[in-house]
Amino acid sequence: MNCAVILLLTSSCFTWSSAVYATNRAAPKKLKYLIDPPVYAEVIGRRGGNVTLPCMLKTKPNHYKVKWTKLEPERVGPENIIMISNAHAFKPYGQVGPRASLRNAHTMDASLLLRRLQLEDGGTYRCELINGIEDENVVMELRIEGVVFPYQSKNGRYQFTFQEAKEACTDQDGTLATYDQLYRAWTEGLDWCNAGWLRDGTVHYPIIRPRPVCGGELLPGIRTYGPKDKNRDRFDAFCFTSQTSGSVFYISGSFSFEQAEHACKRQFAELALVGQLYAAWHFQNYDQCDGGWLRDGSVRFPISNPRRRCGGLPEAGVRSFGFPSKMTHLYGAYCYR
Ligand SMILES: *[C@@H]1O[C@H](CO)[C@@H](O)[C@H](O)[C@H]1NC(C)=O
Repeated sequence: MNCAVILLLTSSCFTWSSAVYATNRAAPKKLKYLIDPPVYAEVIGRRGGNVTLPCMLKTKPNHYKVKWTKLEPERVGPENIIMISNAHAFKPYGQVGPRASLRNAHTMDASLLLRRLQLEDGGTYRCELINGIEDENVVMELRIEGVVFPYQSKNGRYQFTFQEAKEACTDQDGTLATYDQLYRAWTEGLDWCNAGWLRDGTVHYPIIRPRPVCGGELLPGIRTYGPKDKNRDRFDAFCFTSQTSGSVFYISGSFSFEQAEHACKRQFAELALVGQLYAAWHFQNYDQCDGGWLRDGSVRFPISNPRRRCGGLPEAGVRSFGFPSKMTHLYGAYCYR
């Protein structure tokens, strides 16, 4: 995906490169109507926010349509159109269409406004100018800013089929992560010794410090198991989440799971989901050196300023005590409201 953008960028910087890439399938040609490369090759947003994907005309043909599409390489079947518009009409399509409009800041503006961003909105978008003769397009990336978290079943390691992993992420206010999201998380410090499903049905794990128990002394990086059988193979999940509209707070106490639920209810809140705790840690630097119950029955705590007496690990992160017996009267409560 990124390669396509880089190809387009380089080819407009160096005229000789168009000759080199002329034989490529995605040979970029010099565009007559659209500004290429787009004003920004990457746009960043958060869940719930709004973004503008830029697409500018430099010359206006007499008659044309603008068509925006989300490119989904894993998807088979018809292309994923968001909207088509001409001088008179605007027609939204699919799931994203109702949240989309053209910005129309001026007569040369074909930029797309996307409102109330969702976790799955990240990816590659294409702005197409259709005039029936020389159709042109530019592509750009929308990146949803967020955090990747590994998630394991309460029954232990490697319990989820692909579908179960997907549901587990949704249940924790997330979605299965993409390879790009896992890769970025690895560059930001995610080192995890258990393999998990990604959205495209492949299985990977990110390693920063190679060690014998984690696949041996291979190079650091994203280790891959490749595509697996979605119905038969079982792994953990890598989930992705972003900003939340509410906030997480801690109530201290020595609660059982049920008491922790009540403690949140008394504050007109609910026990937090794992994704909500990660979002608070990632976006608000939430730091609380106390284990607390979450809604899935796990006990965790978020650390932004690592210190010896708080779990002892040198890196920031959300620590887990796993899934203790719900009768254990030991932990506080992480609530979300
Ligand atoms: C997004 O846009 C809508 C309407 O266009 C506006 O009401 C809302 O406040 C905007 N949200 C943010 C987070 O800017």
